[in-house]
Amino acid sequence: MSDKNWDRVPIDAQSIDAPLSRAAVFLVVTVADGAEALATVCSVLDGLDDLVKTVGFRDLSGRLSCIVGIGSALWGRLGLETRPQELKPFAPIAGPVHAAPSTPGDLLFHIRAERADLCFEFERLLLAALGSGVSVVDEVSGFRYFDARDLLGFVDGTANPTGLDLPASALVGGEDAGFQGGSYVVVQKYLHDLDAWGRVPTPEQEAIIGRTKSDNVEIDDDAAPRKSHKSLATIVDAAGNEHDILRDNMPFGRPGHREFGTYFIGYSRHLWVIEKMLQRMYVGDPPGAYDRLLDFSTPHTGTTFFAPARPALQSLLQAAQARLAAAQPAASPA
Ligand code: HEM
Repeated sequence: MSDKNWDRVPIDAQSIDAPLSRAAVFLVVTVADGAEALATVCSVLDGLDDLVKTVGFRDLSGRLSCIVGIGSALWGRLGLETRPQELKPFAPIAGPVHAAPSTPGDLLFHIRAERADLCFEFERLLLAALGSGVSVVDEVSGFRYFDARDLLGFVDGTANPTGLDLPASALVGGEDAGFQGGSYVVVQKYLHDLDAWGRVPTPEQEAIIGRTKSDNVEIDDDAAPRKSHKSLATIVDAAGNEHDILRDNMPFGRPGHREFGTYFIGYSRHLWVIEKMLQRMYVGDPPGAYDRLLDFSTPHTGTTFFAPARPALQSLLQAAQARLAAAQPAASPA
């Protein structure tokens, strides 16, 4: 293989723009109290690239990737001098009918591959390395469902930004130079009432989503009495600019337990854009005219992270490790 080909080995960490995969694991953990747990976590994160290669190299066409996101509280504990400008915990929302809870999470691992076994193996080795330094808060294995449909039966992800629009929407730019190339990540685990959804006639389902079900064509609902999900999630600022986010939602479920879900994950250059989408979905526009998708979809988690670009992640881990080493009591003489 030429050098050129090696450059293009499709296994990577912190690759926010990795393509939609067939399988994914969403793993949220909290870090135990104490300096020892912090030191373990820093050393494991430092070796994340190598772990991705260790597992991903076994089948390069499996395109294993892993993105790690760091929560606001852990960022504080690392004692770093710098912090992404907008990073804060997920703000719970209480709408007139539906509420979005805020749930704990210090680290998010978004593991993607074309093969579920690559995701599984990576997660297994990752958790073994983290050991008692972390507790698992939530673990979801998602799968691609036919032509990228959610379990409600609609194609999900169509309006995602592509090409040059992708970094412009999903990655922090010069406005926060120290964190350029990173991304705010918001996750919510939704469970659906598929029986109730199944009783809704297809034209009404389409009005709720804002696209036709079979052929995925956008429905113009500017004049409709109630806005669709698609329209409530469209954010236009005062200057008329539209602000997109990158979504990599995945279906998950256990039919035997009547569990049917969508794991929502949004990457954004600005946290406020996702927060605004959530406000419009839960509170409604006008207030009260909330997103009817929520009548059939209940969020069980809600957590915000920041996924630094790889160079920033490496340097912040080095700074945290140096700080931890300096804080260790000097060894007493024998
Ligand atoms: C669009 C499903 C939650 C943001 C869509 C579409 C579907 C969908 C089917 C239309 C096709 C597409 O463009 O992808 C779902 C499901 C959810 C969910 C099943 C959870 C139960 C959310 C949440 C947000 C969000 C929590 C934001 C915080 C968006 C955006 C669009 C969209 C930005 C594109 C709007 C546009 O056309 O510009 N979603 N969604 N979604 N959704 Fe969701």
